[in-house]
Amino acid sequence: MSRRIVVAGNWKMNMLPGEAIKFIEDLAPLVEDAENEIILCVPYVDLFYALLSAQNTNIKIGAQNMHYKESGAYTGEVSPQMLKSINVEYVIIGHSERRQYYGETDESVNKKIKAAFEVGLKPIVCVGETLEQREAGKAEEIITSQTEKALEGLTNEQVENTIIAYEPIWAIGTGKTATNEDANRSIGSIRKKIVEIYGQNTAERVIIQYGGSVNAKNSKELFAMPEIDGGLVGGASLKVEDFNTIVHS
Ligand code: 13P
Repeated sequence: MSRRIVVAGNWKMNMLPGEAIKFIEDLAPLVEDAENEIILCVPYVDLFYALLSAQNTNIKIGAQNMHYKESGAYTGEVSPQMLKSINVEYVIIGHSERRQYYGETDESVNKKIKAAFEVGLKPIVCVGETLEQREAGKAEEIITSQTEKALEGLTNEQVENTIIAYEPIWAIGTGKTATNEDANRSIGSIRKKIVEIYGQNTAERVIIQYGGSVNAKNSKELFAMPEIDGGLVGGASLKVEDFNTIVHS
């Protein structure tokens, strides 16, 4: 079965609203013919402007995090309902930077994924090993365990609508990309875990992206690998030209 390629930009804590508007206005005409699906995950304050700018284009908009509760005394947090109310379509869940700096756990990731589906948001779930774990030969064990815990209790249909981003932490923002074969093998092991739990049909439908120093030069080869269904792109998603090239990979 052939899956679609999904190219998502993760702007992280970059881009003011004015810059977001200009970026989308510049990008839209360049990518209107693109076959691959395009998502931009932008900071909260950019969401509304990005959604307006992306109207009538093939660019979809996502957030980078959210709380799992609907409302309440959680100062500084944003709920799934809030994102949904302005028509946000995607949300990144469990990015390694959130796991590393903000106490995100496998358990909170699982709650957030369920909360996303409850309101009709599509989650982009990040998994990935540290350099230390990799050097200790534990990469596969870590990423398959993160995947299993993230997806726990989901229906097959929900799993099929989850995008997973395999992002080895040592490759993020470092300029060091996993080799095509390595990334393909790791993603294959994630898919195999999904086969074990949810069966072949479901596993074959799940989009699994690679993330970590994807750029305009390496994206084509990475996305050509049979297991790699596109990318979650950080730094290179901040430049219209580079992101356009990646989208057309
Ligand atoms: P870079 O592409 O900057 O390495 O970031 C990857 C990433 O963390 C995307 O979520």
